[in-house]
Amino acid sequence: MFIVHKNINKAHMIDKRLPERRSGQGTDNGGRWLTAYCNRIALLAFSYLLSAASAAAGAASLAPAAGLNQPPASLQVLHWWTSAGERKAVDVIAGKLAEENIQWRDAAIPGGAGLGASKVLKSMVLAGKAPEATQLNGIVFGEWADLGLLLELDDVATPGNWQKLLFPTVWSLVLNRGHVVAAPLGIHRINNLFYNKKIFERLNLAPPKTWADFNRVADKLRQAGITPLAQSSEAWQVATLFETLVLAESGPAYYRSLFVDLNPLAFGDQRMTHALKRLRALKEWMPTPLRERPWPEMTRQLANGEAAMFVMGDWAKGELLAWGLNTDQDFACSTVPGTADYHLYSVDTLAMFAGDYSHQPAQEKLAQIIMSLPVQTAYNQLKGAISVWRSPDLSKMDSCARASWAAFSKGSAYQAPSLVHRMAADETAKDAIVAEVHRYFIDDKMSESDVQRKLASIARTVTKTGKLE
Ligand code: BGC
Repeated sequence: MFIVHKNINKAHMIDKRLPERRSGQGTDNGGRWLTAYCNRIALLAFSYLLSAASAAAGAASLAPAAGLNQPPASLQVLHWWTSAGERKAVDVIAGKLAEENIQWRDAAIPGGAGLGASKVLKSMVLAGKAPEATQLNGIVFGEWADLGLLLELDDVATPGNWQKLLFPTVWSLVLNRGHVVAAPLGIHRINNLFYNKKIFERLNLAPPKTWADFNRVADKLRQAGITPLAQSSEAWQVATLFETLVLAESGPAYYRSLFVDLNPLAFGDQRMTHALKRLRALKEWMPTPLRERPWPEMTRQLANGEAAMFVMGDWAKGELLAWGLNTDQDFACSTVPGTADYHLYSVDTLAMFAGDYSHQPAQEKLAQIIMSLPVQTAYNQLKGAISVWRSPDLSKMDSCARASWAAFSKGSAYQAPSLVHRMAADETAKDAIVAEVHRYFIDDKMSESDVQRKLASIARTVTKTGKLE
């Protein structure tokens, strides 16, 4: 009965919220609002029915997390961590869960940046088969939380002192309407310029600080028969490079006016023109022909010296380490020219679906494990990210992680939320922008003003709720 009662509270929460949304959107959006309202009610009803139907079964397993003499509890976890480094990191958490007699049932959907996983998640939820936990980045989990589908983790977060321990940016990210709805794993930096240390030493090169430097270094590398910059033509990887170029051109304030505020005027700005031109100019230094390859393959090119530099999120560092390479010996980290002070970030989190609440004890245990300092340290060393704790164990961090931590610690004025990795805008806006940037990158005949017009019109038509007008 407790189970159903909790869901009813959530239903009230949603009912109260909807009129706010309606007035926020103005009167001309009545049709769209109504559709959204109906969808939400349908989904809510669906989840409510599911809860009620399984309440009886669930009540039996409401006992606290399984002790050693009880049959193991299990949690299905949906995620897209399938590369060598990602797997090693995940195994740390799965191993800790196992020590608590809770089995991590893996639902891994391959595909960098979670393109496949986010679609699978949607279908699973709509089919009433939501996993008990899911990798859910950024503002996207707000959509599920708004529907009352996520387990509130306040009973772990409050006694665990999360508000005090977490970076303020991470704390506000995991909060939805005053409740903690996700357990944060780590903070990735996206504006890294990885370079092959052995090649740089052999050719007596220093990592480039400016674009002029970059061109000089790239030229020398090419003369030595080495591809200067590893790059795949996969859309999200192109857009990941592009967002670092926007940051380089403009700093976080302008970056936010584009990708967080979706200000149409900002897309017409000269700074956008420059970032686009830079993206196209960099093609000169990339492999030819440019192929659509998964990110670990591009990382492999950096590792084996086929390419000398690579702009990628620091999950690439996790991969290099998993292959036995060493920071500052085989490879090193610098930043994309013009972004040394900034931190273009993506925070990985696990959110838990409430379902019938029968998994709550195990889910809360998982959240507690994720936030413990030893797990934060071990997981992030392997993942290539940094801990979400504002005062982590610095002695356990390599130079890349320390630089990332120092930049992130400077606060929100120096932080830029990744568009591609779901920290800035919702899925609809992100997908539309990524597709246009990719088109521009692939088609050399498309002019900057063309793509800028298209991006501005996307910004005009995508509302904050992610629906196209
Ligand atoms: C996630 C990382 C993951 C990367 C590559 C990013 O969106 O935040 O955890 O390693 O995608 O798939």
